[in-house]
Amino acid sequence: MPTLECSQHRRKGLLKMRVMDFATSTAILPLLFGCVGIFSLFKLLQHMRIKTYFQNVVVVITGSTSGLGLECAKIFYAAGAKLVLCGRDREALEDLTKELTASQVTKVQTHKPFMVSFNLADPKAIVGAAEEILQCFGHVDVLINNAGISYRGTITDTTIDVDKTVMETNYFGPVALTKALLPSMIKRRKGHIVAISSIQGKISIPFRSAYSASKHAAQAFFDCLRAEMKQYEIEVTVISPGYIRTNLSLNAVTADGSRYGVMDKTTAQGRSAEEVAQDVLTAVGKKQKDVILADLVPCLAIYLRTLAPGIFFSLMASRARKEQKSKDS
Ligand SMILES: NC(=O)c1ccc[n+]([C@@H]2O[C@H](COP(=O)([O-])OP(=O)(O)OC[C@H]3O[C@@H](n4cnc5c(N)ncnc54)[C@H](OP(=O)(O)O)[C@@H]3O)[C@@H](O)[C@H]2O)c1
Repeated sequence: MPTLECSQHRRKGLLKMRVMDFATSTAILPLLFGCVGIFSLFKLLQHMRIKTYFQNVVVVITGSTSGLGLECAKIFYAAGAKLVLCGRDREALEDLTKELTASQVTKVQTHKPFMVSFNLADPKAIVGAAEEILQCFGHVDVLINNAGISYRGTITDTTIDVDKTVMETNYFGPVALTKALLPSMIKRRKGHIVAISSIQGKISIPFRSAYSASKHAAQAFFDCLRAEMKQYEIEVTVISPGYIRTNLSLNAVTADGSRYGVMDKTTAQGRSAEEVAQDVLTAVGKKQKDVILADLVPCLAIYLRTLAPGIFFSLMASRARKEQKSKDS
């Protein structure tokens, strides 16, 4: 027995040596280093291109008074973009503009942002707002549909007016603004529409019905838009982040339309808005089409919903039961 073990051991050793000989004596190692070098060079060139890509580019950001929109404003401003900042709160927009122009965060030439304040949930306000936006710099290169509200509540308790408010802000508002700005992009055969969706635009979780529905609708709309705009060379990017540390849960509406006013643990533990804004800039610079910015678990949940829906539905039902129980107790 020991002689058998010994000869097996020797054979393994010989095999190892032959593999090493092959790797070093043939072109494998130089080839490997070459590939790593080309990949690094490609990444470096891509990084340099994105760094200069936004100089003098007209970028419109909705919901720029808070959270992700505010951080996007800072990052795109520092990249040299000509910004049109949108939100409902004029004073907050003015404060942000002052903060941006006072900051000297960048070596590239920066531009004083314009401000356009309007309520996305008011369909009548949107056409006028789009005209105002177009007057700022004469055209729009990138529209970032970022503004949004979240929702917490059971379907049975929620009034249809609340469903409509969430849909107006997260779906009809961005759709109307996009439609109002598209003709000028089509004319120039140039433009980029970005939709900030959510993981909840890919999967629905209990007690978020209105929010999930609005984000699913937005995903569907912008997927159609991407296909229809290809012929005009207009890009469409849908970005689906997981939890971000912002005021989204505080500002969420509840079943009766009142403000939720609670910082959820999941939101508080989310990624920083600054980090996500950097990923938004990279995704737009790379003209990516559909981007998921989340950890492994939400990504797996998306696959589970597609490949094993039965298991996904059972997990969600159990989650709903648990949440309801903890609310009742
Ligand atoms: N935070 C997260 O965990 C998370 C995760 C995935 C996706 N998202 C998405 O990220 C986007 C930004 O949200 P956030 O997390 O940054 O939340 P936030 O801090 O609450 O910011 C929301 C922004 O939307 C604006 N807004 C809300 N309703 C509006 C309306 N009717 N008309 C015009 N502007 C309106 C707000 O402006 P006012 O000052 O006018 O209220 C605010 O600037 C949203 O689309 C959200 O769904 C967030």
